[in-house]
Amino acid sequence: MKSANLVIALTKGRILEETLPLFAAADIVPIEDITQSRKLLFDTNVETVKLMVIRGSDVPTYVEFGSADMGVAGKDLILEHGGDGFYEPLDLQIAKCRLMTAGPVTDQSDSDVLKVATKFTNIAKRYYAEQGRQVELIKLNGALELAPSLGLADAIVDIVDTGKTLKANGLEPKHLISYISSRVIVNKASMKIKNVIIRDTLSKLSTAVKAN
Ligand code: PRP
Repeated sequence: MKSANLVIALTKGRILEETLPLFAAADIVPIEDITQSRKLLFDTNVETVKLMVIRGSDVPTYVEFGSADMGVAGKDLILEHGGDGFYEPLDLQIAKCRLMTAGPVTDQSDSDVLKVATKFTNIAKRYYAEQGRQVELIKLNGALELAPSLGLADAIVDIVDTGKTLKANGLEPKHLISYISSRVIVNKASMKIKNVIIRDTLSKLSTAVKAN
């Protein structure tokens, strides 16, 4: 009997460049150059393993609903997606950064309700609720760092790597919400049905991470 296919959803962009060498070390290599193609689904050297390349924010959704058996996504997008629709068995320890609150260096906000601009509205909602802070959330998809200087928000919740983007826009990091890195997530039903190939893949990836 032919083995069932294992579909793995990878996050496109910068994370992909760090992900592919780990998969190569785990003996999974796409048979064409993923980074140069407009295709979304790729065959690999392993006949039963296929790679999808999609937006990171869609990886948890594809894995939760089982269209992909496994996925690689940033912890920020996993936290934002929320829920318990998949397992998160492995930290790939790539694309490391921090999810933080940030605001103007000279913070002048003294209103009861803090206006916060972010694309991570679910994370921000949970974080400020835990702090007992009343907030008005403003959803933006990019260029968050402009929001405070233009009066749209008092603070932002965003990814901080070097901190250069904040500094260049007169902002500074304030509070750490979570350390971020890319994680492997696995559909719960796939973990049972395709246990052998998934365990084998996780084990090889884990070895590759340790060697990285
Ligand atoms: C992220 C984040 C910041 C920047 C932080 O954006 O939203 O803008 O990186 O990096 P730094 O601390 O090194 O300056 P990214 O470039 O990933 O693009 P995005 O806005 O599409 O998320």
